Amino acid sequence: MENSGHQLRCTGCARVIEQAELKENFRCSECGDLYEVVYTSWSAGMPEIRKPNASAMRWLWKERCCSNTEADQSGVWRFREMLHILQDEANIVSLREGNTPLYQLRKVAESIGIEQLFAKHQGMNPTGSFKDAGMTTALSVAHELRFDWVACASTGNTSAAMAAYAARAGMRSLVLIPEGKIAWGKLSQAMDYGAVTLQLRTDFDGCVRVLSEVVKRAPVYLLNSVNPYRLEGQKTPALEIAEAFDWEVPDHLIVPGGNLANSSALGKAFLEMKHLGLTTKLPRISVIQAEGANPLYRSILESGGERLQSVEAQTRASAIRIGNPASWKKAVRIIQETGGYCEQVSEAEIAIAKAEIGEEGIGCEPASAVTLAGLKKLLQQGKVQSDERVVLLLTGHTLKDSDYTIAYHRGDLLKAAEIDGLQPEIEVTRRNAVELDASADQVLRELERAAVR
Ligand code: F0G
Repeated sequence: MENSGHQLRCTGCARVIEQAELKENFRCSECGDLYEVVYTSWSAGMPEIRKPNASAMRWLWKERCCSNTEADQSGVWRFREMLHILQDEANIVSLREGNTPLYQLRKVAESIGIEQLFAKHQGMNPTGSFKDAGMTTALSVAHELRFDWVACASTGNTSAAMAAYAARAGMRSLVLIPEGKIAWGKLSQAMDYGAVTLQLRTDFDGCVRVLSEVVKRAPVYLLNSVNPYRLEGQKTPALEIAEAFDWEVPDHLIVPGGNLANSSALGKAFLEMKHLGLTTKLPRISVIQAEGANPLYRSILESGGERLQSVEAQTRASAIRIGNPASWKKAVRIIQETGGYCEQVSEAEIAIAKAEIGEEGIGCEPASAVTLAGLKKLLQQGKVQSDERVVLLLTGHTLKDSDYTIAYHRGDLLKAAEIDGLQPEIEVTRRNAVELDASADQVLRELERAAVR
C-alpha cells in the first residue's frame, strides 16, 4: 500500500490539498471549513477516473473474513480499497474493530407497526462504541506521521477509544472531558488505558475551545471528528450494512446526532458505494437529536440548514450533549442529498426507547436510543412507511452508562414534568430490582407476581 493515493478536499470551497498541507486544526486556511478525504483515482469529481472493480471488491472483502492477518480481521481494514489513507499498512493500529452485529428488532417492530427493523450495533466494538471504527484509521495516520501524543475533547466515547488505540500503538494520549458530565464507564476506560485525563470545569464545547488552543501550541495530533481520517473508518459500518443485505441498501438509516460527524461519514460511504457501482441507490439518512441538545434540528427549522443555531446543551444522553457541533454543515448536506430528516426527541422518549431496546436483549447507551424514539416520530408523521426496511445505528454499549439504566428502572431518572403523558409506556418498560429476605417463599411470591405481569 505505498503512495496512499488520497488528497483532502475542502467541503466549503472545494480546494484540494495534499496531506502534508493539513493544518493542526484540520480546517481550510482559505475558508475555515472542514476537509474530506478524496481518492485520486476514483472519487467523484476527481480528474483521473480509474474505478476499482465492484464485484472483485465484494468478493475480496468477504474472503478476508477468513484470513489470519490483523488487517483482514478488522472490520474496518478489510475494506481498505475504500480507505487508502496510509503509505504503509505496517502502521495499522487495530483492536479487531468492526464486523459488528446487525440484529433484527422483532418485538419493537411489531409494537410500532413496521415490517423490517434492524439495529446495527456499533456498541459491540472493542471499547464499546462506534468510535473504534474511526479511531483505528485516524490513529494509524498519527502513528505513520510519527506523533508521540494524540489528544481529543470528548463526551466520553472518543476519549475511551483514543486512549485504547494510543496504548496499543505505544503512544501517549491527552483527554479533555467536561467535569461531572460524562458517564463513569467511559471515564474509567480513559484511566484504565493510561490517558492523561483532564476534567475541565466547562462543557464539551468548552473542552473543544481549549483543545484548539493546545494543538496550536504543542505537537499533539488532534483526534476529534474534525480529523477527516476518523470519518474514513466511520464509513465502514455502512459497507457492512450493505454487504449484510447482499448490496441492497436499506430504505432508511437513522443515526443519533451530536458533533454530527457520524451521519456524514455513513453518508459518504453510501455515496461512494453508489459511485463505484457497489450499490444502486442511497438510503435516506435521518439524524435524531435530544430536545435539549438540538442545534441541527433548530438550524434546519429556522434557516433550512443555512446557519448554525448553537444552543446551551442539556440532556441526560451525555454522549450527545453538544451545543455547537463542528460537522453541522456536513450533516445538513447528507440529510439533503439522501432525502432524510432531522428530528428531536424528549428525555422521556429517549428513556423509554432505551428500555425497549434493552428488552430485545441488546441494550444500548442513552444517546443510541434517540434513533428508536426518532423512528417512532417519523412513522407518526408518515415520513417512514411500514413496509420500509429501516436500520437504527446504535452507537454505544449499554454498560457505558449503567447509572442511567438503574435510575430509569428504579423510577429515579425522570422528573414528573418530563413524563408528559408517557406514564403507561414507562410502566410497561420499567423493571426495578426487588430486595427480599433470603426466603424461598418470598422468591416464589415474586415469581407468581411477575408471571401475570
Ligand atoms: N452516540 C454516542 C454514543 C456518542 O458517543 C456520540 C458522540 C454520538 C452518538 C454522536 O455522534 O458526534 O458523530 O454526531 N460522541 C462524541 C464523543 C462527541 O466525544 O465521544 P456524532
